Amino acid sequence: MKTDTAPDKVNKTWLKDYQQPDYGIRHTRLEFELSPQKTKVLARLQIGLAPDRAEGEPLILDGEGLELVAVRIDGQALAEDQYEVTDTQLIIPRVPVSFTLETEVFINPAGNTALSGLYMSNGMFCTQCEAEGFRHITYYMDRPDVLSTYDVRIEAEKAANPVLLANGNPVQSGDLPESDERPGWHFAEWSDPHPKPCYLFALVAGDLAHVEDQFQTKSGRDVTLRVFVQPENVGKCDYTLDALKRSMAWDEETFGREYDLDIFMIVAVDHFNFGAMENKGLNIFNSAYVLASPETATDMDYELIEGIVAHEYFHNWSGNRVTCRDWFQLCLKEGFTVFRDQEFSADQRSRPVQRIKDVRRLWQSQFPEDAGPLAHPVRPESYITIDNFYTATVYNKGAELVRMMKTLVGADDFRRATDIYFDRHDGEAATVDDFVICMEEASGRDLGQFRRWYSDAGTPEISVTDNWDNGNYTLTLTQKTAPTPGQPEKPARHIPVKLALVGTDGPLTDEELIELEGEAKTLTFSGLPEKPVPSLCRGFSAPVRLKQALDVADRLTLIQSDTDPFNRWSQAHLLAQDLIKSFAGQGKIDQPEEAVFAYANALGVILQDETLEPAFKAEILRVPTESDIVRSVEIIDPEAIGTARKTFRSILLKQLRPLLMQAWEANRTAPPYSPAAEQAGQRGLKNTALALLMAEPDDEVMSLIQKQIETADNMTDEAAAVSLAAFADRPEREQILAGFYAKWQHETLVVNKWLAWQALSGLPGALAEIQRLMAHEAFDLRNPNKVRALIGAFAMENPGTFHLADGSGYAFFFDRIRELDPVNPQVAARLLTATENWRRLEPGRRGKLSEKLKALCATEGLSKNVYEMAERLADGE
Ligand code: TRP
Ligand code: ZN
Repeated sequence: MKTDTAPDKVNKTWLKDYQQPDYGIRHTRLEFELSPQKTKVLARLQIGLAPDRAEGEPLILDGEGLELVAVRIDGQALAEDQYEVTDTQLIIPRVPVSFTLETEVFINPAGNTALSGLYMSNGMFCTQCEAEGFRHITYYMDRPDVLSTYDVRIEAEKAANPVLLANGNPVQSGDLPESDERPGWHFAEWSDPHPKPCYLFALVAGDLAHVEDQFQTKSGRDVTLRVFVQPENVGKCDYTLDALKRSMAWDEETFGREYDLDIFMIVAVDHFNFGAMENKGLNIFNSAYVLASPETATDMDYELIEGIVAHEYFHNWSGNRVTCRDWFQLCLKEGFTVFRDQEFSADQRSRPVQRIKDVRRLWQSQFPEDAGPLAHPVRPESYITIDNFYTATVYNKGAELVRMMKTLVGADDFRRATDIYFDRHDGEAATVDDFVICMEEASGRDLGQFRRWYSDAGTPEISVTDNWDNGNYTLTLTQKTAPTPGQPEKPARHIPVKLALVGTDGPLTDEELIELEGEAKTLTFSGLPEKPVPSLCRGFSAPVRLKQALDVADRLTLIQSDTDPFNRWSQAHLLAQDLIKSFAGQGKIDQPEEAVFAYANALGVILQDETLEPAFKAEILRVPTESDIVRSVEIIDPEAIGTARKTFRSILLKQLRPLLMQAWEANRTAPPYSPAAEQAGQRGLKNTALALLMAEPDDEVMSLIQKQIETADNMTDEAAAVSLAAFADRPEREQILAGFYAKWQHETLVVNKWLAWQALSGLPGALAEIQRLMAHEAFDLRNPNKVRALIGAFAMENPGTFHLADGSGYAFFFDRIRELDPVNPQVAARLLTATENWRRLEPGRRGKLSEKLKALCATEGLSKNVYEMAERLADGE
């Protein structure tokens, strides 16, 4: 299969082949003449041979899709035989030791639907350069270990582009002399004094409005903060600005990190491949993570905005001031920065609830990745395109590794280590190992074995056995990691396990930290008053799977009597999951109905516990989704799972109905709306109660839905009610959905929610509805948010419809992949992760899906992105 595909498709880049660059770029000057179809880019690069290199190395620059019009060295135009241009490079065989290189190219931003490089979104110019987008703008050494200062000049038509932005501080701006070719043009110049790799370059031009504020840093620097949006959205930026100020203060307080320019800007764009981008001084955001008003954004949206604003801001140090040597070190900035934003959110909101949400996310996306054909180490060893490695493993497992090191060395040494790291590597491109070395130096500990977490893929499984003998208790932990692609052997890892022993009335021991380093470890305890239940990996102290033979009574003990909120939640979630699996014929619980009664009683006690916060109650009340169950079973039969989950919810509802009604009533929040944690938690509980009430959508519950839709003064409540109606087989459904669209059709982010609810429906006819929506005016294949809302939600979170037994869901999906690949390969490739569990499907579906993957793999003319994903997914078949 590999041989009959174009060879450039299988060209892999390897970590082991890393070499320092032959040349460095001291300074970069860029001049842009912006025009939608034909933008001119002049680059003037001050280049020098690297100190330890011999003269005579060719200069090789990356560049793709560029129309080259001139090349000059020290002002002298090169003759055609003095350089070579390929599809991906500009090669100059002979260059001086130190020189100025000038290139002039033309590019076509309006034709750039891949949204990598310079492109247009709703008439504005914007850029996305990470990871390898800069090569679509000009010829350059497009690699993160080449750091340069930048001066940027932008020229553009003033009426269409009154605002001209780039990284750094503003230098000057003004009108250009009138001319026939360029009537009414103006210019702006920006200068960024901090050396940076080109993936952090950014430029924005367009008709934008902004909101503004000030921040004074700890050492007295006055910083102007601006959030730029399309003029109609200027009323939706306050929360973003507020989150930014809180992030700046937090990073000073928690990590001693200050901002380092006179201005910090955020720009919202509607077309964006990811969440946001940390370009130096000029963050560019997916508008979904900037724009919020109580009427149009949910509590969840606000929470995401807060977390992503913080994440991108924190990159100013973890990513920008200290960057990555090569893309294999991606987790150095991403894992660390996710850890930092998680800690920020924990401090802004509820720490226990934040931990639950972060682990839920890890379980949803990282554990399945680590257990399937796409498994890769947190620091991968090879790639065809790095775009495919912006994964839950690099981001979320990467964050867990930082968290484990903090647990192992302690909070004080951890902070000393990060100080050493930022200080030592400021202005450099560093490696994961550099970071770990700082942890070792600050703590005096040897993290040699711990490093395996970076190089070895797969989730370790810890089996737990115990023995109770008359007051004496022994506990044995044994670790094992299953093979992953390319890694058959998995040596033992260094695993921090926080544990306590719990009895019927609460913990019997203090929490202690155990370090599992060998294959197994046995612990003994004596003088215990009763046989304990072990509470392991408290706070989720390590990203492992626990294989613990707890019966229902043991689990209920932990749910009711443990003092670790994370384990209370996780035991409740896992018990619910086991119960649903048992109804589907794949669980270990013999009398699941009886057990649901007991489980419901425990939930009832929690619901009535005045000491617990509503947000925690909401998390514990949330019934595992069909996707959660799909992820946890050995053999996936989506119909059986759907039916089992319905059964479980009905029984639970029978037990809890009055309490749920009461929770719905009692947690209605009084105006004015606030997105802060407390109110959001109440709404979360109320709407989770409503979701469970909708297990039986009778007239009484439907009247609550109608009432909530009519009276809601915020999108959280409105969205909760309308989405529940969208999932219900009720006559009101059509009219509720139509009413919502009519009301919100001019708010594109709200319309995306409406698309997603229909994509998530498990009702008969759901696939036909999704197909119809493809042709709806609200859908646009060129807008990644809309693709994710409709096709992403359907494929990733609607197993009943995606896995329809006749294969029609697969056929629809693969047609969309083929349609999207030429438009936006990054987004198309990412959608394919929806198929990563195909090997676990029951045989009928498995055959159908693997056929589709094989056929895709053998298709001529695929992008590198989709080819690489299809090949890894289908590997071995
Ligand atoms: N560095 C960005 C972040 O922190 C990720 C990102 C933004 C990205 N845009 C991208 C990654 C495009 C790959 C392609 O979240
Ligand atoms: Zn990031």
